[in-house]
Amino acid sequence: AGTVTYQWEVSWVNAAPDGFSRPVIGVNGAWPCPTIEATVGDTVVVQLTNKLGNQTTGIHFHGINQVNTDYMDGPSGVTQCPVPPGSSITYSFTVDAPGTYWYHSHNMGQYPDGFRGPMIVHDPVDPYKGQYDEEVILTVSDWYHSQSLDLVRKMLSPNNTQFQPPIPNGIIVNEGRSGRINFVKGKTYRVRIISFAALGSAMIHFDSHTMRVIMNDASYVQKTDTYQLRVSPAQRYDVLISAIDRDRRNYPFLVSLDINRDFANDATLRWPYNFTGYLAMDPAGDFTQKDVVTKWRPADDSRFSPLVPEPPIGPVTKTVKLDFTFCIDANGIPRACFNGQPMVPQKVPTLYSVATTGNDNTNPLVYGAVNPFIFKMGDIVEVALNNIDAAIHPFHLHGHQFQVLDRPASGAGRWSGRSTSSTGSVPRRDTVSVNANSYVVIRFKVDWPGVYLFHCHIEWHVEMGLTATFIEAPEQLRGIQFPQDHLDNCRKMNIPYQGNA
Ligand code: C2O
Repeated sequence: AGTVTYQWEVSWVNAAPDGFSRPVIGVNGAWPCPTIEATVGDTVVVQLTNKLGNQTTGIHFHGINQVNTDYMDGPSGVTQCPVPPGSSITYSFTVDAPGTYWYHSHNMGQYPDGFRGPMIVHDPVDPYKGQYDEEVILTVSDWYHSQSLDLVRKMLSPNNTQFQPPIPNGIIVNEGRSGRINFVKGKTYRVRIISFAALGSAMIHFDSHTMRVIMNDASYVQKTDTYQLRVSPAQRYDVLISAIDRDRRNYPFLVSLDINRDFANDATLRWPYNFTGYLAMDPAGDFTQKDVVTKWRPADDSRFSPLVPEPPIGPVTKTVKLDFTFCIDANGIPRACFNGQPMVPQKVPTLYSVATTGNDNTNPLVYGAVNPFIFKMGDIVEVALNNIDAAIHPFHLHGHQFQVLDRPASGAGRWSGRSTSSTGSVPRRDTVSVNANSYVVIRFKVDWPGVYLFHCHIEWHVEMGLTATFIEAPEQLRGIQFPQDHLDNCRKMNIPYQGNA
């Protein structure tokens, strides 16, 4: 295994991915941000210097397990202090599992300003090797003309009594690069679809071409054919697409953004945000044909079974029930809450508190209002999420590919309190959408220590507080040492921390 090293200066640059020019957060003077590429077993090193001038920053590597390197996970106030302007941080960790991932700022609702990119971990023993000729990445995202900080400020105003998130100005594909994906007829492509969205779910349809799904998030699945996918914020799908070889022409594809309304099978054909791209097999040919979608009937996520069948893990040793909906805090600010409580961001990162509170670190009371849940090494945790809201919400757990046991359709009501009926193979992924007025039950095992966030991946809802903190095997984190550059950032931010004694 090798080491891949990236040196990044992060700064504001101008870009116009949808024709409207605005400042975005770029890397080494350019935007879109680069792709991180590594192979299973490699060490990935990212040396970041914050040249934004006016904002702190940081990077989270979404979907990466961070086995015994939780302090490299990236969320500010959770596993590190924010990186102030003029300062640096080095992330260094091993990638232990193959897949399509992405990285993004996990600081102040910052990734909708453009600080995000794909992260690919190649598999030397890819079970689908030989079934495709080439790989391409297809990113989809909602897009905003105002900067995130302003959008968040408006959202968190007491006047926002309807809990409205910022509404995007449009949709972009591949960060505004060409919407043409160059295909050669007869070849098969592994298309790695990634959603960078902050709010909307993307519906995708390729004219005349089936998608054969081989991976969801960073978990292989049994090859499953579909014509349409719904990709929620932060989700990924790897699909095989064989370029039709009976003719040589350009086939349109449609990406349509659902602005966090619930999806019923016969929902309106079009939301206001649509993007037509092309599987371009004839560069000199026609690029005017529009898609032929007449109905959205995306595959149900629950159809994707792990490549190696996996019954639910058990027996459950810890059950967590989380009801989520919107709420107003003591200051009259609109929030989003778990069991009535919004997460209140902490100055001292929770992981640092875990390291320094000794035997008290198994007591949730030492962590403040972060919705803390404490688990022991080896615990099999079941989380039941009740969606009390009338919209769909995509939930992500850091550090794990969890099992999805029950995921009923919209309007199914609340979790009964009883464990799953599933006995066969259940899906595994890191981001699952919870249907409106319905619920999801997930399970995972505590296999290594760390502090892992569990939150709605609608970035605006993170800023509203729809986050819980899973503190896993804290007994193994007492007195751990943090890298000096990480601590220097705390000192520069005047964040009191008495660790590394
Ligand atoms: Cu993709 Cu908490 O993150």
